[in-house]
Amino acid sequence: MARRIRIPWLIDVVSVSTPDAIRAVAPHPTLDRGLRPAGPLFNRFVTGRLRFTLSTGRRPLPTILRRDDTDRAAAQAALTDRLTPAEPERLLDEETVAALSGFVRGEGGEVGPLTQQLVGRLFDADYQATGETWAAAKRLQRAAESNNPLTHLLRVIIGSIYRAQRTLSDAAKGDPSAVHSTGIAVHNLVDAMEGLAKLYREADDRASVSTAEAIARTLVGPRTIVRQADGHADSLVGPLRPGTLVTFAIREAGQRSLDPRITFMRGGWSECPAHRVVPAMIAAVWSQAVWQ
Ligand code: HEM
Repeated sequence: MARRIRIPWLIDVVSVSTPDAIRAVAPHPTLDRGLRPAGPLFNRFVTGRLRFTLSTGRRPLPTILRRDDTDRAAAQAALTDRLTPAEPERLLDEETVAALSGFVRGEGGEVGPLTQQLVGRLFDADYQATGETWAAAKRLQRAAESNNPLTHLLRVIIGSIYRAQRTLSDAAKGDPSAVHSTGIAVHNLVDAMEGLAKLYREADDRASVSTAEAIARTLVGPRTIVRQADGHADSLVGPLRPGTLVTFAIREAGQRSLDPRITFMRGGWSECPAHRVVPAMIAAVWSQAVWQ
């Protein structure tokens, strides 16, 4: 259910990877984002690296902001409202859906920039993904995932993280939610598109694969999301101390359960505003690939 690594002064990290434990622990009032410098050395490195990386270069991305941040909550509510109409497929850029369905059929096309463009056009109909914006998204994601302090230091010194943030932010007109979506969240959707291409190649009778089944077989969540303890408290996964990091292995847990409360943290304070439109994207690309 949970694995803890604790060496006083050095590290205090709890990894949670089962759906039940994530559902039970996520609402704990002592666990939040914000990622202050607190706790042992490794914890301080991780929070510092994430605070530096998950930013537009000027403003923090929403996924490192605290639950009581009222601007974050208002932006999340407004975006959820906008991305959850009765027919979410109408929000999708037709030209990009068509190009992605060509990719799924094996007719070529670059899945990374195309998926980034599909996401970017939810925010701005003129969003243009390029080799440069896609390279920036990969660089930002790698920097967010790497726990090697030397590599991080090098990236900071040569300015590669900052340049990636500026490229993504310029394309997204400075909107932190759009930078998060086109720079970080997009990678989950690329994995889903690659999953659709594999399903298309391997299904014996692809016309019999419903859109619901295609979604269930390809939708994946982020590998991990991070919470930090604000103070001392007991929890289902053991005692929390100020600065304890708790990571949720969303992708692993989501593959054991179709529950959107895991993949999109649905129903919680941090739920993904795209929880309706993402399945609509997968459904639109799959049905065009198979039927048109
Ligand atoms: C397969 C695709 C996606 C998955 C599985 C996914 C999943 C998630 C999860 C689990 C969170 C919560 C993070 C946390 O608790 O710290 C989140 C947050 C968020 N997601 Fe997604 N996401 C996806 C795609 C998208 C897309 C396409 C958009 C925008 C169009 C988006 C916008 C956001 C935003 C703005 C937040 C931050 C919400 C907040 O806490 O204020 N996501 N997403």
